[in-house]
Amino acid sequence: MQIAESLKQTKPYLFAEIDKKKNALKAQGVDVISLAIGDPDMPTPEHIVDAMAKAIKDPKNHQYPDYEGSFAYREAAATYMKRRFNVDVNPDTEVLALIGSKEGIAHIHTAFLNPGDYVLAPSIGYPVYSGGAIMQNGQVYYMPMNAENDFLADFDNVPEDVLAKAKIMFIGYPNNPTGAIAPVEYFDKAIAFCKEHDLLLVHDNAYCDLSFDGYVAPALLERPGAKDVAIEFFSLSKPYNMTGWRIAFATGNEMAIKALGTIKNNTDSGQFTAIQDAAIAALTGPQDCVAKMNEIYTQRRDLIIDALASIGLDVKAPKATIYIWAKVPEGYTSASFAEAMLEKAHVIVTPGSGYGPDGEGYIRISLTTPDDRILEAVRRMKEAMA
Ligand code: MLT
Repeated sequence: MQIAESLKQTKPYLFAEIDKKKNALKAQGVDVISLAIGDPDMPTPEHIVDAMAKAIKDPKNHQYPDYEGSFAYREAAATYMKRRFNVDVNPDTEVLALIGSKEGIAHIHTAFLNPGDYVLAPSIGYPVYSGGAIMQNGQVYYMPMNAENDFLADFDNVPEDVLAKAKIMFIGYPNNPTGAIAPVEYFDKAIAFCKEHDLLLVHDNAYCDLSFDGYVAPALLERPGAKDVAIEFFSLSKPYNMTGWRIAFATGNEMAIKALGTIKNNTDSGQFTAIQDAAIAALTGPQDCVAKMNEIYTQRRDLIIDALASIGLDVKAPKATIYIWAKVPEGYTSASFAEAMLEKAHVIVTPGSGYGPDGEGYIRISLTTPDDRILEAVRRMKEAMA
């Protein structure tokens, strides 16, 4: 039995590895505090759970779902795009339901890459942008991204030979893991670049509704000409505390939506319709639950930044996302610092190097842990570093 070459090149998934370490320690009875994965600790809002409870009793929902998502769900996604961004999308041809946006991001490679083709991926980014390419026998060009360029992935100097074989460019703002935000001019430049070089522009907008200090994140599809070249991914996981439900949608360029839909209907049979009904309640129901989460995350952000400063970690307050991106202290690498915190403090942080080459020298801390545990984690980290 032999596994595929592409799988041999595929790295184990960052958070699956972290889970293994966490579970091994927990099995030994260790009190582990995870500040790693962005998995909201608060429950899904009640009106969404109620919608699910009703939908699950409807026998119609017990049969196969519609491949592209129920029309009602796609309409709710279109309603959200109009309400939130004043963007018009056709629910029939420009919206596709996803079993979480990770699934859609992975499959977009299958739809657009031939073996040997390149994707342009931010050199600090969600691991699936590059991992999806490798699984498809594609290649990855990392666009430089660092504090000097405000963590805006730089596509000004992509070599000609790479560009000749490039098919997809990924960006994502508000950014996981750095918390960076992008000015709309950056989006305009990315749209023009992808038009010029005949690339599909993929914008991962999973964190657009989690923002602080009055910042309101835009959609790429708000920008002129975006639909000509772009597909945008939205997720219900983070704003509505629904990571376990696996529900998201893609919207934008009709051809890209159709291509992704064809890969999906040959691969999966859609998301449980009852979950889509609950998602309709999320997208079209009251939004005060999202505002409440943003208040909680703002408090946690400030709490953790103060606490990290007290142990000498250099941190800038993000305007969006649920992540703090911090430089590791002198003498550590991302991995050695994360390792040391795990061993000595039983605190899990995500090594920045897991997000790509320019992530080296950083760690990511997630705000999805209650205040008392955050404070306990920082206390232990301080002790471990002393
Ligand atoms: C994250 O923490 O970056 C993501 O939520 C993890 C994931 O989607 O696998």
